Amino acid sequence: NKRVKIKTILDQHPIGSEITLMGWVRTKRSNKNVSFIALNDGSIITNYQVVADPNVIAEDVLKKCTTGACLKVTGTVVESQGAGQASELNAKSIEVLGEADPEKYPLQPKKHSLEFLREIAHLRMRTNTFGAVFRVRHALAFAVNKYFNDKGFFYIHTPIITASDAEGAGETFKVTTLDIANPPRSEDGSVDFKQDFFEREANLTVSGQLEGELAALALSEIYTFGPTFRAENSNTTRHLAEFWMIEPEMAFYDAEDNADLAEDFLKYLINYALTNCQEDLKFLENRLLDEEKSKPVDQRSEMRLIEKLKFVAENDFVRITYTEAIEILKRSKPNQKKKFQFLIEEWGADLQSEHERYLVEKHFKKPVILTDYPKEIKSFYMRQNEDGKTVAAMDILFPGIGEIIGGSQREERMELLVSRMEELNIPTDEMWWFLDTRRFGSTPHSGFGLGFERMVQFVTGMGNIRDVIAFPRTPGNAEF
Ligand code: 4AD
Ligand code: MG
Repeated sequence: NKRVKIKTILDQHPIGSEITLMGWVRTKRSNKNVSFIALNDGSIITNYQVVADPNVIAEDVLKKCTTGACLKVTGTVVESQGAGQASELNAKSIEVLGEADPEKYPLQPKKHSLEFLREIAHLRMRTNTFGAVFRVRHALAFAVNKYFNDKGFFYIHTPIITASDAEGAGETFKVTTLDIANPPRSEDGSVDFKQDFFEREANLTVSGQLEGELAALALSEIYTFGPTFRAENSNTTRHLAEFWMIEPEMAFYDAEDNADLAEDFLKYLINYALTNCQEDLKFLENRLLDEEKSKPVDQRSEMRLIEKLKFVAENDFVRITYTEAIEILKRSKPNQKKKFQFLIEEWGADLQSEHERYLVEKHFKKPVILTDYPKEIKSFYMRQNEDGKTVAAMDILFPGIGEIIGGSQREERMELLVSRMEELNIPTDEMWWFLDTRRFGSTPHSGFGLGFERMVQFVTGMGNIRDVIAFPRTPGNAEF
């Protein structure tokens, strides 16, 4: 008798079938005639009801079927007596594969706060909420690969360890095998990195973009999808020190082609989840409704989760330049509502999350593609516009999230790229391999990076980025 997944019972195992389930007890209700065990195996949000007759299943076995215990149950699929599910399992035998001492097991059949569950991240995937989140996360990761594969893009695995800092922001984690308390020194007293493993300084990658550009200038259309690392202040609900990024890079695309692809891609991912994760999204939507009950009416969202996802998937994103956005922010009335109080902005300043939220949530009420930022606030590799002040940058802002995508058309002109790097003190000699793409067979090309966790947050409605990655890495948090 092979194990059957709960997800497949309805379609593949009609009334009368004999099946074996394996899974974890969520709850047990008993009276002297019968016990009802709600079993979950993670394949689907709904628990499956096991009915155990004390005349068939020994009392000492039933006693061990407590919340969290792992069971192997063999029995017959019978029509369900209660409402809610079409069938249930009439147990013929139950084997307790792993007990869970009810005095010690931290998950009880009640609502736990997300903060509490973060403390027990090693067990939280056993809850409905996290089961739903990680099934949706999986579906989105699969959809990323499907989208690009269907379009003929190639998946490139870029290095995790590198010597370059693609964003030039100096927020890298160092990688070294040197004894940091007592490192080898050169004659002038400085640390002798020649004796380090890579015979030079190395760090964890902040982005696969630069290597992605090398690949795009060979295979035309590529994408990366891997972990990236930033030692920035990640004590917010939108930042992690370790996050996953999807970075497509395309030869022969200009800034507009880039924005078209990004918008189409985001809508595809949302539609994929809407089609393939209905039950989980419905559950997450109800979870949010529950959570919102405790908020003041004016802070509740205007749309339900699924409605919001459909709205974003079906409507054109707004496209405006940074300069237009600044004009809107200047015209807006500050202090109208407390949450949007810092509105006056001057051209040249980077947008704060309040500004982004105002544009997306209050002014347009739609996703916004913001283009052509001042070059001073963007990375060295972005293509300079004719005005000499702005670059062909693109940020996509989402409601409730803020920046979800950052990208640009790249500077493909050797002289302009080199002079920009020199202005920013980026060592051009160390970047010789990157500059070779401009030296040999350069061409206009573009790309962007989607923060995968922010996308999972948007689709699941989870408010804190720590709740959409299994083991979040944030300041002070790397135990497991
Ligand atoms: O805007 P960023 O820094 O862009 C790049 O890294 C480019 N190299 C991408 C490219 O053009 N190929 O990061 C891209 C996205 C952001 O829009 C955001 O969604 C996400 O990555 N992101 C983070 N997500 C979680 N935690 C952090 N600390 C993040 N930093 C950026
Ligand atoms: Mg950015």
